Amino acid sequence: MSARDVLMLDDAARADVWRATIDVVERYLTGLPEREIARAMSADEVRAYAGLVDFRRPLDPAGAVRYVVEGFERFHVHNAHPRYFGLFVPASSTMGIVGDTLAAAFNPVLAAWRLSPFAVELELHLVRALAARFGFDPRAAEGSFTSGGSEANHTALAAALFRRFPEAGVGGLRAADAEPVLYVSIEAHHSFLKAAKLCGLGTASVRSVAVDSALALDSADLRRQVRADRAAGKAPFFVVATAGTTNAGVVDPIRALADVAFEEGLWLHVDGAWGGAGAFLPELRGTFDGIERADSITFDPHKWLSVPMSAGLFVTRHAGLLAATFSLDEPYMPRSEEHGGPVDFYRRSMQWARRFIGLKLFLTLAVAGWDGYERVLREQVALGERLRTRLTAAGFLLANHTPLPVVCFTLPGDCRSIETALQDIAARVVASGRAWISTTRIGPARQLVLRAAVTSLHTTDDDVDAAVDALVGARADTAALAPRDTHARRDVTTRRTD
Ligand SMILES: Cc1ncc(COP(=O)(O)O)c(C=O)c1O
Repeated sequence: MSARDVLMLDDAARADVWRATIDVVERYLTGLPEREIARAMSADEVRAYAGLVDFRRPLDPAGAVRYVVEGFERFHVHNAHPRYFGLFVPASSTMGIVGDTLAAAFNPVLAAWRLSPFAVELELHLVRALAARFGFDPRAAEGSFTSGGSEANHTALAAALFRRFPEAGVGGLRAADAEPVLYVSIEAHHSFLKAAKLCGLGTASVRSVAVDSALALDSADLRRQVRADRAAGKAPFFVVATAGTTNAGVVDPIRALADVAFEEGLWLHVDGAWGGAGAFLPELRGTFDGIERADSITFDPHKWLSVPMSAGLFVTRHAGLLAATFSLDEPYMPRSEEHGGPVDFYRRSMQWARRFIGLKLFLTLAVAGWDGYERVLREQVALGERLRTRLTAAGFLLANHTPLPVVCFTLPGDCRSIETALQDIAARVVASGRAWISTTRIGPARQLVLRAAVTSLHTTDDDVDAAVDALVGARADTAALAPRDTHARRDVTTRRTD
């Protein structure tokens, strides 16, 4: 065997391993509904299996693939499963899987246009198309694909910070004329806390803005806090509107926040990592009213657009923003501008030698078209509505209000025992293998609730009904509901049969 074949395999072995891999993928995708979503496992068991391979004794390619597939079969929460109602980890689109495969095979480096002109231009085409869907002028908008929403949010904070305090780019924050502060609601994603640390601002610079009874950011409280901070000599510069909170799918009042941002001179960043796709549906566009006035947007195709991880996007309507934040010269890198190419991504993002993230989205969108995507999103919105209706009919209480397909719910009854009961119900549902749901805490009181989101492309009406049946069964079985709550349950049952 030649040295090359050690890694490339010979032609026959390569053909075999492609076939074996395709067979596995096809069997996995077609067999998903029959699969147990997750089985009980101990960390020791998983660790022991993961450590089985001794690298001094290499496996044959088919054996290596079999070993990994068995690992996935035994030790994995199958988030593509139609009855997975958990965090936003979708089932991968077929063309997305193809895209990731082609990206790995051709392996273009997206750092410099001159090295990968087609890949860079294709991503720029996508950025313009997505920017236009959010209402930005595609001729002025610019953006870059990221590893996900966290990197996109970090990019937003860094870009806004250095635009407002250009002196800090060289001198650090000590060169800023006043202490910069930023504003997020208590329901915003915690990546902003990480980003504040990484930008040298520290978490103390992150103000928590109150939410209203619908868990949406309270623009009056934002204005109050901004003015108080300014009066205290601070420098308010950045506010986040979340378009689909992680917990509860709530869309903050973007237009009202755009007004405050404009009046107070703040950068408005919309974090639409998951929910932003809802803006593509004409019937939901009103919920996202004002998004076109955002200075920048985070959007994760690897969430509601069902492309494999990782695929995030930062997009801004301000041309030149990314270059101002990230540009530098490096003698060993090609200078694409000198060869007719407009963009080198290494000067426009945190990443340098990055992979072709946009391809999986491009192929999915090219084959589905915007209409196809709208159909999928619309169907998932309808499934969310069905989930809400069924849960209410079964006696659960809704705890969030959103048109997006994520439902937070609870039970009537006394607070302490309800928490135990909800946790027990979630654990029972997951252990039953009939559905996968989780709990979370929402609102200022950090109320514990059950949470179910429609995230898998494969979910159908029957899966929603099966999940609700599993929840009703778990509620009947839980010992955590004290006698007082049992009465509450009886009331609920009576109401239901009425
Ligand atoms: C609203 C929101 N923003 C940001 C993120 C972080 O995205 P990622 O996990 O892609 O880094 C998430 C993740 O769920 C999210 O829901």
